[in-house]
Amino acid sequence: MARIFVARRIPDAGLNLLYDAFGKENVAIYPEDRVIPRDALLSGVKGMDAILPILTDRIDGEVMAAAGPRLKIIANFAVGYNNIDVDAATQRKIPVTNTPGVLTETTADLTWTLMLAVARRAGESERILRAGKWTGWGPMQLMGSDVYGKTLGIFGYGRIGQAVARRALAFDMKVIYASRRPVDSGLDHKTHPRAVDKKTLLAESDFVSIHCPLLPETTHAFGAAEFDAMKNTAYLINTSRGPVVDEAALVDALKGGKIAGAGLDVYEEEPKIHPGLFECENAVLLPHLGSATQETRGKMAHIAATNIVARLKGEQPPNCVNPEVL
Ligand code: DGY
Repeated sequence: MARIFVARRIPDAGLNLLYDAFGKENVAIYPEDRVIPRDALLSGVKGMDAILPILTDRIDGEVMAAAGPRLKIIANFAVGYNNIDVDAATQRKIPVTNTPGVLTETTADLTWTLMLAVARRAGESERILRAGKWTGWGPMQLMGSDVYGKTLGIFGYGRIGQAVARRALAFDMKVIYASRRPVDSGLDHKTHPRAVDKKTLLAESDFVSIHCPLLPETTHAFGAAEFDAMKNTAYLINTSRGPVVDEAALVDALKGGKIAGAGLDVYEEEPKIHPGLFECENAVLLPHLGSATQETRGKMAHIAATNIVARLKGEQPPNCVNPEVL
């Protein structure tokens, strides 16, 4: 019987599928609710037919070698798969799968949570209130920025970027985007998203929201030069991957008034946070919550397990990112 290694407990919607297909005794789950240590990962995968990692587990050639020749699939519990060495998997003819689609709207909602929170100084205001420092309503107090009617610049116009754009309709925003390739989003409204180059996006946007994947060419795509090119009244939002932003440069920009604020859900070296960010009242900081709803995490678990079941039954896993191995 096939054996599966699950690197961190996931919702039952996925586990039950694996138990039904392979028997509970053949599904090994790392028992602790924390990122699996490297040595536990290397020993846990030994002799497994499938690995189900989460986005903080680095799955490289060493892990694949440790798993051994039975390994037939790596089913990531995330839509992003920058934690997996896909080239190494492809060389070994191992399909890698992800969980696209199901977290689009949930992540777009969280992007808007950050936009509204940073523009209206919600984090800073709540800290004041909870500390017992609120002295009552004041006409000059905690004034933020409107979101309604402003310009939203979306960097990376895939599924999530487009879902963020759709929500902007209700806020009567002008939407522009910079994308690696032309996109027909199907949106047809008076604020029809306009494709622009990165320079224009930075110069015109009141909110810049990042939605590109992490690739060598997008690593530190936002650094000192980009913050200089943004309006000093503009906000940066990042719900994609931390290393797309040079965090040290962002801290300088936030402290130096180069931009008005930042809403972040992802960080360069999670779970470490650049200490300078904690000093910035104009930063709203969330702990990588993009897909964190009951509904979406359940669907992600179901998709990851479905990919494993399909592969180990000799069928095509539906969400393969390196289909050339099939
Ligand atoms: C993903 O799936 O890539 C998300 O970042 C998870 O929250």
